Amino acid sequence: MPYTRLRPCRPGKAVWRPQQHITPGCRLQSLRSFRPTLGPSRRLPEAANGAPARRVRQPETLYAIGKSQTKGMKTNRMYDEFAHLWPLISDPAGYAEEASYWRQVLRDKLGPGRHAILELGVGGGNNLSHLTADFQATAVDLSDKMLANSRRLNPEVEHHVGDMRTVRLGKKFQAVLIHDAADYLLSEDDLRQTFQTAAIHLHPKGIFVAAPDQYRETFRQSQVYHRTRSKGELELTHIEYANDPDPSDTTTESIHFYLIRERGHLRIEQDRHIFGLFPLQTWLNLMEETGFQVDTVPYDVHEDHREAYLLVGQLSR
Ligand SMILES: C[S@@+](CC[C@H](N)C(=O)[O-])C[C@H]1O[C@@H](n2cnc3c(N)ncnc32)[C@H](O)[C@@H]1O
Repeated sequence: MPYTRLRPCRPGKAVWRPQQHITPGCRLQSLRSFRPTLGPSRRLPEAANGAPARRVRQPETLYAIGKSQTKGMKTNRMYDEFAHLWPLISDPAGYAEEASYWRQVLRDKLGPGRHAILELGVGGGNNLSHLTADFQATAVDLSDKMLANSRRLNPEVEHHVGDMRTVRLGKKFQAVLIHDAADYLLSEDDLRQTFQTAAIHLHPKGIFVAAPDQYRETFRQSQVYHRTRSKGELELTHIEYANDPDPSDTTTESIHFYLIRERGHLRIEQDRHIFGLFPLQTWLNLMEETGFQVDTVPYDVHEDHREAYLLVGQLSR
């Protein structure tokens, strides 16, 4: 099936530096070369006397400081006290092209019809909002405040509060989807439990689609994303910074700053999210272990064109 190159813009899809290739595995259908998206390395400016200016602190130093300072930060405020800012952080239009990959994969695997689908970790429902015209959707998320955003956007969808690792709705679907909520699975045990949740909610031969934003092979330290948006008297500048305090474990952190300007008053808040990070092969192995036959569908949705895949599992029974 033909896949076109897409460039949606949304948080976490920032401009990243070139990176190492994913080691080709037997299941990879195609590998795209990484292309640098940042300009040529910048020269240090010259001081007034013509001598090179003093070099600023090196990333390694900042990295070490960050490691000790981030630990005490509150986590996941975006999905709780700042959930009302979600429409400024991320909007449905930014997902239109990305959602076209999901629609195509579901159509290819399920055929025509208004099939029943379940999204785990639906968040504000932005990606799902592009699928509800074609499929009968049900949605789950840990955060009731994020579900409120999705309910506003997707009033026809049935919403449930639940943890994707343990939720049991007592219903079966033709497909289970996990979009970028996949980033919040922090251990192999989390992956296994969530794949079990998917399998339990699927009819025989049902489809499970997951889209991790990063793999161990594609993560780059110190990537930055920022954007300013406003609605009425509220303006939000959102800055996101990727950090891996311990490259030997299966997690990274994403540090967020929110500069919230409301009726002329500026307030600055910070937030920390912990993300899981695994080799692509770990995802494939654990999905197969759960009973899925897995295809990797190239998913060229990131601005840096890093290697990304929709992991499409079909229950073998
Ligand atoms: C980035 S948001 C998803 C945005 C979504 N893709 C959209 O299109 O609007 C990630 C969501 O994952 C949810 N989440 C994180 N861990 C979860 C878990 N264990 N079970 C269910 N939801 C979870 C968060 O509450 C959050 O709403």
